[in-house]
Amino acid sequence: MAVGGDAFVGRELELGVLRGRLERALVGAGSLVMVAGEAGIGKTRTLGEFAAAARARGALTLWGSSFEGDWHPPYGPWVEALGEVLRLISAGRTTRQIAETMTVSRATVERHITSLYRKIGARGRADATSYALRQGVADGG
Ligand SMILES: Nc1ncnc2c1ncn2[C@@H]1O[C@H](COP(=O)(O)OP(=O)(O)O)[C@@H](O)[C@H]1O
Ligand SMILES: [Mg+2]
Repeated sequence: MAVGGDAFVGRELELGVLRGRLERALVGAGSLVMVAGEAGIGKTRTLGEFAAAARARGALTLWGSSFEGDWHPPYGPWVEALGEVLRLISAGRTTRQIAETMTVSRATVERHITSLYRKIGARGRADATSYALRQGVADGG
């Protein structure tokens, strides 16, 4: 057996569960999965592998972080995850540029932007940009 480098090994059970949820999410039945475990056990790595597989299935993957013990704004991880797209919108990027940056299809970005607008009550890019500035998500860059 060759061991070394940064090859990903095992975690088939966990990835199987996550992939199952992804397939359901792709047909509109979304869900929340909590991946828990001691520091260093492989949570981030496993989710990184899963995210790559999800992108290959045409899904948009976003990351947000929270750290135990540290103070975070309410919904911090969600704000961070959605903020990635919002930041690109308010920086004036086109749907195509956002798709390229995030390595997903334009249709995926389009769908995500539509649902993002609905969540923040925006009618378009101008509304979304002012929302982003108000929330401190956009840096104007
Ligand atoms: N299944 C795996 N195969 C190979 N390396 C792994 C695997 N899971 C974790 N690692 C490696 O172990 C280290 C710690 O994993 P990490 O995902 O950062 O842990 P956690 O997020 O749970 O604290 C990293 O260097 C990561 O690349
Ligand atoms: Mg981690």
